[in-house]
Amino acid sequence: MLTIFKGANPEALNEIADEMRVLQTKHCIVLFSMGSQFDHLIVQQLAKLGVLAVVADPSTVRVGDVKKLAPAGIILSGGPASVHDEPPPFDNAIFDLGIPTLGVCLGFQMWAKHAGATVTPQAKREFGVHTLHITQDSPLFEGIARDTQVLESHGDAVENPRGDASWVTLGSTDNAPVAAGHTKHLWGVQFHPEVTDTTEGAKMYDNFVSKICGITDRFPAHNVAQQKIKDLRKQIGDKKVLIALSGGSDSSVVAYLLKEAMQSAGGTLHGVYIRGIDRPDDEAYVQKYFAAPSEALAKEGGKHWIDVEVVDASEQFLASLAGRQQMKEKRMQMRGVYKAVLEQKIKEFGADFIAQGTLYTDLRESGLGNDTGARVAEIKVHHNTNLGFSVPELSPLDDQVKDSARSIGRDIGVPEDLLVRHPFPGPGLVVRIEGEVTAEKLKIARAVDGIYIEELRAGDLYKTVWQAGATLTRSEHTVTKGDDAGAGVVVALWAVWSVNGFTARFAQLPYDFLDKVSRRITNEVREVGAVVYRISDKPPATIEWG
Ligand code: XMP
Repeated sequence: MLTIFKGANPEALNEIADEMRVLQTKHCIVLFSMGSQFDHLIVQQLAKLGVLAVVADPSTVRVGDVKKLAPAGIILSGGPASVHDEPPPFDNAIFDLGIPTLGVCLGFQMWAKHAGATVTPQAKREFGVHTLHITQDSPLFEGIARDTQVLESHGDAVENPRGDASWVTLGSTDNAPVAAGHTKHLWGVQFHPEVTDTTEGAKMYDNFVSKICGITDRFPAHNVAQQKIKDLRKQIGDKKVLIALSGGSDSSVVAYLLKEAMQSAGGTLHGVYIRGIDRPDDEAYVQKYFAAPSEALAKEGGKHWIDVEVVDASEQFLASLAGRQQMKEKRMQMRGVYKAVLEQKIKEFGADFIAQGTLYTDLRESGLGNDTGARVAEIKVHHNTNLGFSVPELSPLDDQVKDSARSIGRDIGVPEDLLVRHPFPGPGLVVRIEGEVTAEKLKIARAVDGIYIEELRAGDLYKTVWQAGATLTRSEHTVTKGDDAGAGVVVALWAVWSVNGFTARFAQLPYDFLDKVSRRITNEVREVGAVVYRISDKPPATIEWG
C-alpha cells in the first residue's frame, strides 16, 4: 500500500529521500488525497511520466510540513465531499505558499473558494463524458485541441470573483462555464484528467509537471519493478512464501516478482490454486505456466522455482453459498472459504508469508487504501482485502492498477499470454450469478462463458476488449423450441473497454458477432432462454454485475 505522508518528521523525510534516490529523481509532487476513487490514478499518471507523487494526508499535513518537503508542485484530488458539506480538513495556508498547485474537481473548488470565488451547488450535476471548449491559451493545455473530451463528475460550479483581473477562465463545458480556471500559481479543472475518458488527460499532467512546475528530470519505469524486488528480497530472506494463484495476470506478476526476489536467497515458494467457482480455463493456465516442466526440472537440478497445488473447494463454496441471495452476502461467504483454505495451507506448508495479487483498485473499491482524513466510498468488498491472515501479507501490487501491474510484469519477463488475459474477479462466478449459487448454475455459467470467450478469440475481438463476461440473471424468458414451449434463464453478456478498471465504456461489439454468440449459447446451453447485451458504462454501472 502507498505510504501516506502525514507530516514532516525526520523519519518520513528520510523515507522520501530514500525513495527518490532509488528512483533516481530530484523532484516530487505532493498529492493531497481528498478521497476520490480516482486519486490513485494521478499517482499512476505521474509515475508513467517518471515523476514521484508523495501522497499526503490533508488532515495532518500543515503548511510547515509542505515547506520542509519543498515539492515542485501540489495537486489536490477530487473527493465525494463538497466545499459546503463535510469538506475534507485542509490547511488553506498551503494555497498561499506560491507553489504551483493543480486542483482537480473538489480540489479546484477548495482553492477557488479560498481565493475568493463563489462556489455554488448546481441545479444539474455534470456527470460523464463532455466536451471541454478551451477558450484561452495556457501552459496547462498546450498542444491540446480547442475541443477535447473530458470526464466530469461534480455538483458544484465555480464562478470567478468579480473585478479580479488575475482570474482567467481557461475553458468551459455546456454546463460548467468555468470548467478550468487559473489565478497566480493556482490552476484548476472541474473534470478528471487522470481517467482515460479524458482523452488528453495525460498530456495535461505532463504540461502541469513540466511547463508549470518546471520538473525536467524523469525516473525510468524499470526502476519500479527493481524497487519492488529489492523490498521483497529484504522482507523475505530465506523464508517460506505461500502464494494464491488464479491463472490471471496479477497473481502471476507477483509470482514472478517473488521468483526474482527469492532465487538466490534460498526461500521456498508454494502456489495454491483454488478450484470451485472458477472459469473453465483458469486452472489450465496455472498448470501450463507454473507447474514444473520436466525438462526445466532436470535443468534446474530437480528444483523448480515454484511448486503448485490445486485445492478443490467446490463443496465448501457451495455449502457456504446455499440459500444466500444477495451479492454482498455472497461475496462475504466466498471470502470466508477463500481465507479458510489459505489458512489451512499456510499451516500445512509452514508459510512465513502469504502473497496475493491484490491491486490498488481492489483496496479502493473496498473502501480501503486511503489512510487520510478524507471519506472514501465502499463500492464492493473485494475478496482479497483486509482478511487478517495469521502470517504477514505480501501484496507488492497494492499500489498499482491493472495497466501498471502489467507493465511491471512485462519488465520482468512474465509471459505475454498471461499478461493479456482479461481480468477475472476473485469471487469468480459467484458475482456473475444472480440469486443463490448452485452447482447447476455454475455449470451453465461456465458453459456460457466458455462459448463467449471462445468466440471473442475466434473473431479476433478478445484483445480489443479489456474484459468480457456473462451473467446469469434471475429473469426467465419464455421459449419455444420445435412444437414445445417452456422457459429459460436470461443471460446478460457484457464487455468493456478500459485501461485500469476504474472507469470503463461498454464495448461496441459488432452485431453479427453478438448474433453468432447468442445463437450458439441458446442452441448449445439448453437452460438458456434468451441472451441480452449490457450497454452501460462505469460509472455509473460497475464492471461486474455484483
Ligand atoms: P468492478 O466490478 O468493481 O470491478 O467495476 C473492477 C475490476 O475488479 C474486478 N473485481 C475483483 N477483483 N476481487 C478481485 O480481485 C474482487 O473481489 C473483485 N470484484 C471485482 C472486476 O472483475 C473488474 O476487473
